[in-house]
Amino acid sequence: MHILVCGGAGYVGAHAALAATRAGHDITVLDNFSTGHRPAVRWGRLVEADILKPETLDAAFERPVDAVMHFCARSLVGESVQEPYAYYENNVMGTLNLLQAMRQHDVGKLVFSSTAAIFGNPVSALIDEDHPKAPINPYGASKLMVERILADAASAYGLRSTCLRYFNAAGAAPEEGIGESHQPETHLIPNVLRAALGTGPELRIFGDDYDTVDGTCVRDYVHVLDLADAHLRALGLMSDVDGAHAFNLGNGQGFSVRQVLEAGRQVSGREIPHVQAARRDGDPAVLVASSSKARSVLGWNPVHTQLESIIDSAWRWHQAQAY
Ligand code: UFG
Repeated sequence: MHILVCGGAGYVGAHAALAATRAGHDITVLDNFSTGHRPAVRWGRLVEADILKPETLDAAFERPVDAVMHFCARSLVGESVQEPYAYYENNVMGTLNLLQAMRQHDVGKLVFSSTAAIFGNPVSALIDEDHPKAPINPYGASKLMVERILADAASAYGLRSTCLRYFNAAGAAPEEGIGESHQPETHLIPNVLRAALGTGPELRIFGDDYDTVDGTCVRDYVHVLDLADAHLRALGLMSDVDGAHAFNLGNGQGFSVRQVLEAGRQVSGREIPHVQAARRDGDPAVLVASSSKARSVLGWNPVHTQLESIIDSAWRWHQAQAY
């Protein structure tokens, strides 16, 4: 297949581009490099374009496209509260521009990068696809709006789509030179490893009074290559079945911030300078996925399930960090 990877210079997008290439697909990466990294574009051809500038999108469809994977998004929860217009503009209007370009060019399959943030505060220990969707910030709301648009597009235009709701994407592909790097970096594992290396400030642990095993927040860390694999499986599903699909992707096991810190210490063999800090706004205490639907329908079977091996891949990339 020829796959258009929108946002393929970003963290999950670059790993999806790698996985698609390894699976024998031909890819085109579309990116505007607002947050993506040029050195992360290592596979396929590149079209520099912007989903907020519809006139730039045609170039990406010059060669017939069989399916689109869409990763272009603003994705910082805190920033979304401060700048909601930017989030609705980029994540909703930008996606509509892309969907219209797909329609014009007769492209009928989309894998959409969604998030656990569509669920808001969990009301059950494991979050499955039927869990109430009540986002508590503009980022989650913007992604949920797109999920709704895709359901409507399935009915109106027969668009086939799969929304993949990532829990906490983590890890890297160090042997391929790609990993996680955001500016500013807000994510836990990169911040732990940068503190270990001395390339970042001491780690701040946000909150110690949550109702969890040790008072710090619990998250479900899932390796980015396992997420990438789910995208390929979603393409397979859409070859057989029409409609709009959605899957929650996590390992089904939660780790606290302190457990991640300890795993980072063990993997790196270094002390990690850290301080206790106040809670961060908008952080639910626990977010853990039930991915049984992905396992049964997509046959998704994550292979990098140990927290230490996830952190180890990130550690090896951070040590040789190329961008
Ligand atoms: N944390 C720290 N110190 C840091 C960074 C994070 O203590 O320097 C804590 C956070 O407070 C949180 C946990 O580590 O409890 C994980 O934080 P991340 O920022 O790594 O990830 P989030 O769980 O906040 O974000 C993820 C996805 C988002 C999604 C969100 C839903 O990355 O896309 O879950 O809440 F929106």
